[in-house]
Amino acid sequence: MIVVYFVASLLATTVSAGSAADLVGTWTTKSRAVITGPGFYDAVNDKLIEPSLTGISFSFTTDGHFEEAFYRAVANPQNPACPKGIMQWQHGTYTIGHDGSLHLTPIAVDGRQLLSDPCSSSTGTYTRYNQTEKYNSFTVAVDPYYDSMRLDLYSFDGSPMHPMYLAYKPPEMLPTTTLNPISKKTKRHLDRKTKPSFDLGKLVSKDNLIDPNRLMWVGIIMSAMGGIAMFMS
Ligand SMILES: *[C@@H]1O[C@H](CO)[C@@H](O)[C@H](O)[C@H]1NC(C)=O
Repeated sequence: MIVVYFVASLLATTVSAGSAADLVGTWTTKSRAVITGPGFYDAVNDKLIEPSLTGISFSFTTDGHFEEAFYRAVANPQNPACPKGIMQWQHGTYTIGHDGSLHLTPIAVDGRQLLSDPCSSSTGTYTRYNQTEKYNSFTVAVDPYYDSMRLDLYSFDGSPMHPMYLAYKPPEMLPTTTLNPISKKTKRHLDRKTKPSFDLGKLVSKDNLIDPNRLMWVGIIMSAMGGIAMFMS
């Protein structure tokens, strides 16, 4: 308890609410396995590239663009030995509110998601992904333990995301303009089953991104399903 208080007061003295200039760069979780840019999303072939470990990455530019890459394992309560894998990528613009909140508005046609459930299907589901995001606040500070700049995002309910560390500055990103204007070709390409190469042995990284909050994931999967249904209709 005393330690918690000490750490909290230490953070309170060294961390202030973030500004746009603080955000600029590419950030990644501890495993450093997930980095935004062409190594995660191959825009030419419209393909997500599976990282070796789970992780999260965000990039921000000085002129208001963001990109994000998520690779997470999703706990499977029916069969704990068999997590699902989910990859999500999107980019767009960001704004910072007067209250220090961070708002991400994706380019709707560009986002992609690959959901795989290897124990029930040999194919993954590849769809469009479009999710506006709001974070109540964020902080950028030096993390003395990792000797690196650290970004903490706090979600709408105030809970922190996994901490991210600065990987590149200037950021590693795909072009910030629209990559995939809607076309028949894109549509055909997207509405498909793919054979994912998720290696379940490797899926759970040191970041341990299996989320204990199962309800949150149920929500995310439901909205993913909604997205699929919407896309197919
Ligand atoms: C993308 O999401 C936003 C916010 O939820 C919504 O207003 C918009 O209609 C969506 N666009 C598409 C193409 O689904």
